[in-house]
Amino acid sequence: MNIIVCKNYAEMSNVAAKMMSELMQKKPNCVLGLATGSTPEGMYASLAEMCERGDISFENVTTVNLDEYYPIAPTNDQSYRYFMNRQLFDRVNINKANTNVPDGTAKDPVAECKRYEQLVSDLGGIDLQILGIGRNGHIGFNEPDTKLMLDTHVTDLTEDTIEANSRFFASANDVPRRALTMGIGTIFKAKKIVVLASGASKKDAVSAMLERTVDTNFPATMLNLHPDVTLICTQDVLD
Ligand code: F6R
Repeated sequence: MNIIVCKNYAEMSNVAAKMMSELMQKKPNCVLGLATGSTPEGMYASLAEMCERGDISFENVTTVNLDEYYPIAPTNDQSYRYFMNRQLFDRVNINKANTNVPDGTAKDPVAECKRYEQLVSDLGGIDLQILGIGRNGHIGFNEPDTKLMLDTHVTDLTEDTIEANSRFFASANDVPRRALTMGIGTIFKAKKIVVLASGASKKDAVSAMLERTVDTNFPATMLNLHPDVTLICTQDVLD
């Protein structure tokens, strides 16, 4: 795993945005795998600024997001579709038809997961996948377990994740209990993976990942099996 240590959150965000912009310049019709959560917000702001300046274009870019709560409407301000529109898609020249987030309103969530898995396959995989990391080591919503699923699937969120994400909701009771998420195999279809981590709360998660062991009870450790992973983190994550 390559590691880039940054002095602060702003630097981490800019380094990640630069990596994405270089790919977009080299391959204007690239497929970007995107994450939500607090960690990539600065990177999205930096990409939006680059686009405003005319340094990059999203005109021919396709995006696939890692996950979505279930059930949830896209108009709900806690949905990941809403987050992506606000943080990035409404701020750049992307064709919304080329932005993909699992459908939190699907009547048949299992069929929706199948459709999503096929979509990622049909796109030929992902050129660059951005990941955050959960305090409990989850990636996407692949939660710690004795078994991990390869394909996009419906998952129950753990109490730890519900508690961590409740900061965005009125209360923990309002956090949906389930989600649709890419599986480890879907994520591994990415040619390149970039993991972002910032802040002391990610210390344990990152140090377990860097131990170079593989443990399904700590899903991020699976990333040691992928040939092209870069961790971009702030110094406090490693202190
Ligand atoms: C979000 C996602 C999650 C987050 C993780 C970290 O799409 O899949 O795995 O990346 O929970 O979240 P933050 O960045 O809020 O600490």
